[in-house]
Amino acid sequence: MLENQLREPSGKLTIRVIAMPSNTNAAGDVFGGWVMSQMDLAAGSAAGVRARSKTVTVAIDSVSFLAPMAVGDELSVYTDIVKVGRTSMIIQVQAWRRVRQSTERQLVTQGKFVFVAVDENNRPIPIPPEVASSDDKEE
Ligand SMILES: CC(C)(COP(=O)(O)OP(=O)(O)OC[C@H]1O[C@@H](n2cnc3c(N)ncnc32)[C@H](O)[C@@H]1OP(=O)(O)O)[C@@H](O)C(=O)NCCC(=O)NCCS
Repeated sequence: MLENQLREPSGKLTIRVIAMPSNTNAAGDVFGGWVMSQMDLAAGSAAGVRARSKTVTVAIDSVSFLAPMAVGDELSVYTDIVKVGRTSMIIQVQAWRRVRQSTERQLVTQGKFVFVAVDENNRPIPIPPEVASSDDKEE
């Protein structure tokens, strides 16, 4: 199935936000960079919970923009930690839009974000074993 024909998000809803006029370029379209920053924030949130430490973005791979966004669209970012290494994690991130006053959703962007757990001096530290988070208990 083509990426832009996906009907359902994959991963855990991590951030939901409305695109505002301040998030547009001179042509009035929503900046891809703004969408990417929301994805980075969501991936960082997921990484921090998993590592239980400060984390930093070390790489962003295979990002593709599949559909445009407009002011007023709701952006929902889903994260899924697909691989945990010694100090790094690969997080699959999907950004979906919902047009205001509609229930239709559309995949806007997806990509893989690599985060590294770091100490107070920004040196890599091992990722501890996974524990159930309070979010998991609510689901
Ligand atoms: C992240 C950082 C601390 C890693 O330092 P480093 O000296 O490269 O550390 P290492 O070589 O031990 O690599 C640490 C882990 O990151 C992984 N890694 C490093 N560079 C990578 C890259 N480009 N792509 C994917 N993974 C990478 C390594 O494979 C390793 O994973 P593992 O421990 O799970 O096997 C360092 O590169 C850094 O500070 N980068 C800047 C981060 C930052 O400021 N981000 C925001 C930018 S605005």
